[in-house]
Amino acid sequence: MTEPFIRAIEDRDIEAVVQLWHDCGLTRPYNDPYKDISLCRSSGHGEILVLEEAGAIVATAMVGHDGHRGWVYYLAVSQDRQSGGVGRMIMTSVEVWLAERGVAKLMLMIRTDNLAVRDFYLRLGYEIEERAILSKWLEEPASDTAPMVHSTIIHLAMDAPPTSPTPHPPAGLKTSLIRAVQPTVSFYRWLYDTVGAGWTWTDRRAMSDSDLHAAIISNSTEIYVVYVDGVPAGFGEVVRYKDINEAELMYFGLVPEYIGRGLGTYFIRAMIDIAWSGEPKRITVHTCDLDHPRALANYQRAGFVAISREVELVPDPRRVGLPMPPAPEDRDYPSVVHLPVRGE
Ligand SMILES: CC(C)(COP(=O)(O)OP(=O)(O)OC[C@H]1O[C@@H](n2cnc3c(N)ncnc32)[C@H](O)[C@@H]1OP(=O)(O)O)[C@@H](O)C(=O)NCCC(=O)NCCS
Repeated sequence: MTEPFIRAIEDRDIEAVVQLWHDCGLTRPYNDPYKDISLCRSSGHGEILVLEEAGAIVATAMVGHDGHRGWVYYLAVSQDRQSGGVGRMIMTSVEVWLAERGVAKLMLMIRTDNLAVRDFYLRLGYEIEERAILSKWLEEPASDTAPMVHSTIIHLAMDAPPTSPTPHPPAGLKTSLIRAVQPTVSFYRWLYDTVGAGWTWTDRRAMSDSDLHAAIISNSTEIYVVYVDGVPAGFGEVVRYKDINEAELMYFGLVPEYIGRGLGTYFIRAMIDIAWSGEPKRITVHTCDLDHPRALANYQRAGFVAISREVELVPDPRRVGLPMPPAPEDRDYPSVVHLPVRGE
């Protein structure tokens, strides 16, 4: 086999490159990949690097700088060549490309739930920086993709394990809590879609099967399902951030038929105990005014303290078949406005 080599994209590569981006789940309805390629190539301070092997394009990275920092987009490795060092190889070329132009620092953005890619970059020596990303469309995106829903997110944290005894499951409910090790995408989708339908949980509904699979089998994610008499009644996830020694409860919720039966208090506490079992220095969770109105109070009662809040724009849920939620002023979430938030 000929040795792989990295070079700048040429016109004849464009179709293969766009196909690779589609296959890797990197294309979005609001980004025209052909326009992105053309703009990068004509910018004078960007390049699309391709890794060619035996006549085929097996990896790409769009690299450029803004006169200060370097940025990378469209990092893609063909699925049959992933986990073989190709991603590292092309990222090395990206770094060299920028260093040769005097750029001292490389920045990149990933979705917060894309744990596989996050772990890849951590392995390559990248660090997570706490920053808010602000953006503004200068060209109207297609109307059905415009961000439409305002949501107030409350971030909560707990710095020591609870000292009170763990409550028993509600009497009369034969309850078991089982970790779903390597869940299938179909089972996970049922859990996520059923639990999240009433609370405008859209992000994982919108993911491709391959992205979702990568997220739910990630080493840092543990998924637990609570059963009542053998029937799934809810699920929750613990994400362990080893680099900062923290754990986060994510996507915690009950199937609608099991809400209001006393299961939530037991289940939250059981998940908190699991999160602490890894001996992190802190555990975190976030909730928002699209969640169940009692979610925030339940977390606070379980020992979490609100540490910050932020307003986020989430994409139109109708894109993934969910109805629009009530306007912020009509949401049944009274405690948000008056919530004492540390640091304010
Ligand atoms: C992310 C991606 C570019 C990684 O490329 P790759 O060729 O599979 O990665 P490599 O084999 O070069 O891995 C480099 C290192 O990262 C580690 N790594 C890769 N994926 C990892 C993961 N999910 N978890 C932990 N470590 C990971 C590897 O073990 C390797 O470590 P080592 O060299 O110290 O042994 C590739 O999987 C991909 O194209 N994914 C789909 C597109 C995508 O999500 N792009 C990023 C957009 S933000």
